[in-house]
Amino acid sequence: MKILVVGGGGREHAIIQKLKENKSVEKIFALPGNGGIAADAECVAIGAKDIPAIVEFAKANAIDFAVVAPDDPLVLGCVDALEELGIPCFGPRANAAIIEGSKVFSKALMHKYGIPTAASEAFDDPDAAIAYLEKQDYPTVIKADGLALGKGVVIAQSFDEAKAAVKEMMCDKVFGESGSRILVEEFMTGPEVSVLAFMDGKTVVPMVSAMDHKRAKDNDEGLNTGGMGTVAPNPYYTEAVAKECMEKIFVPTMNAMNAEGRPFKGCLFFGLMITPKGPRVIEYNCRFGDPETQVVLPLLESDLLTVMQAVADERLAEVEVKFSAGAACCVVLASDGYPKKYASGFEMTLPETADGEYLFVAGAKREGDKLLTAGGRVIGAVATAADLPAAVAHAYEVAAKVKFENAYCRKDIGKRALAALK
Ligand code: AMP
Ligand code: GLY
Repeated sequence: MKILVVGGGGREHAIIQKLKENKSVEKIFALPGNGGIAADAECVAIGAKDIPAIVEFAKANAIDFAVVAPDDPLVLGCVDALEELGIPCFGPRANAAIIEGSKVFSKALMHKYGIPTAASEAFDDPDAAIAYLEKQDYPTVIKADGLALGKGVVIAQSFDEAKAAVKEMMCDKVFGESGSRILVEEFMTGPEVSVLAFMDGKTVVPMVSAMDHKRAKDNDEGLNTGGMGTVAPNPYYTEAVAKECMEKIFVPTMNAMNAEGRPFKGCLFFGLMITPKGPRVIEYNCRFGDPETQVVLPLLESDLLTVMQAVADERLAEVEVKFSAGAACCVVLASDGYPKKYASGFEMTLPETADGEYLFVAGAKREGDKLLTAGGRVIGAVATAADLPAAVAHAYEVAAKVKFENAYCRKDIGKRALAALK
């Protein structure tokens, strides 16, 4: 089989390595991939948002199956376009990807179908938003409606901060049209859990839970990033919480999307907060998480391609989705300065990995036979082990073997999870 994977980060590298375990896979094309992914797939210089070029490539290369990983192409209708050619795809169509593409949509969905989430109001007029904000308790959360590279959320500590955020999003348009509409949300508290779930519109199968570390610096300080590390499973996601999530959130979300005529097929990412009143949805993503995927897929014992094909054919209930009882940790090696300005273009060499060790490359390019850093997040150093303490210790050993100039990583990935275990 010839497989096309749209995307080019650490998440895509983890997906590609897992797909390769299937013997029927002859070739994987990554669009655009990256210098590290090039060791596992043929990278083609087509951007993940260039839907016409992706479609043209798929047609010319007789692709048998496509996996569309990032949010942008999903929201832009990449799956719709490939399915029109008759190519089976893993990933939601645009009318379902809106669950991530519009926070106003997903909030309205949750309120309409009684799915637990923070109370909220939507606004498309800045004056109305400001009048409402004057009467709120603080902190209060302000969110841009559309995709904003994970930066469209402001936790305002005061009315003045809230007013400034509204002005930036709605008047100065710092996130472009994504901020034309905003949400004002109740501030919730509690540990956060990421749950990725396979979903085919009929069945939902949650994967092993994960914990992300979004802030740039140790002790959850510094700016928000795409994610500086992950562990799986997440100790706050107990069996009782999992059961409640399945009954009150996962199945109701699938049914709600069906009722709206927007069946969701692919990986639905539930960003959850375990509040004193029970689990609540913070956000949905219409795709695998990054770097959640880098810890979840190494624990998947079943064949990924088989599961993805079953999702595409709406036969998810018929296949086995089994995870190992162990744990995994991913330490992201970033370019120092990320998520702001950083220097890159430094040469790196990747050490050999043993069983249970992985180096998923997020930002690198090839120049001749050299591999150079090219991006904020550069490498996800991952280890699996029998339990979480061993996985965390081992992931840091793997990370220590990777050397490049200007490297930076958080030193406390998994610390909170390990404390919660005690
Ligand atoms: P999001 O982009 O919606 O995932 O939000 C980014 C981060 O902001 C989340 O991971 C939370 O830490 C925080 N956040 C978002 N919404 C809320 C809320 N209603 N209450 C408290 N924290 C929130
Ligand atoms: N790690 C969070 C995300 O993928 O959005």
